[in-house]
Amino acid sequence: MKFFVDTANLQEIQEAHDLGVLDGVTTNPSLMAKEGIFGHDNVMAHYKQICEIVDGDISAEVIATDYEGMVREGELLAELHPNIVVKVPMIRDGVKAIRHFSERGIKTNCTLVFSAGQAILAAKAGATYVSPFVGRLDDVSTDGLQLIEQIVHIYGNYGYQTQVLAASVRHVMHLVQCAELGADVVTCPLSVITGLLNHPLTDIGLQKFLADHAKGNK
Ligand code: E4P
Repeated sequence: MKFFVDTANLQEIQEAHDLGVLDGVTTNPSLMAKEGIFGHDNVMAHYKQICEIVDGDISAEVIATDYEGMVREGELLAELHPNIVVKVPMIRDGVKAIRHFSERGIKTNCTLVFSAGQAILAAKAGATYVSPFVGRLDDVSTDGLQLIEQIVHIYGNYGYQTQVLAASVRHVMHLVQCAELGADVVTCPLSVITGLLNHPLTDIGLQKFLADHAKGNK
């Protein structure tokens, strides 16, 4: 399973990269705004900086919601760096844009997916990744992990090449359960990745090993 970090914060991206387990990055307009990145040139420069830190797929989202606009923006984003994945929302023109990009060898991430039907459309259009939002479904009392299971199953039935990128992953158990269900990728905050490190028995065990070692070396 690939790990993507879901942030536009360069320090967090660097930290995730330094851990040695990072495969890519996802961003979205809210995450860019959170870092204060506005305006075409600043946005492009920021994506470039991310690509310089991480040698893996970097999702950059289009803002346009019409086909022509998405194609224009997506092509500019794709020209920035070979690792850019154009993130396109699951709307009618988005599906058409994904087909356009896929025919030209431009990688795509179909975002804002909340149903199996939408995931089937994304795969049919040739998306590289489909992003079902686990946490946002949980937020409205719907089982987000069940959707991951359903999509993995459906894609397996037909051998679709689209990779299931579990998004809106909010905590460690989300991540572990996505792994159990066979998601190809999870994207989550850095705190979820570092949260995987934690176990009190590891801390207690290490303290004891070090204390015993210190006794023998007095
Ligand atoms: C995915 O690509 C989205 O950027 C992200 O995972 C959304 O997560 P949130 O629901 O925690 O905002």
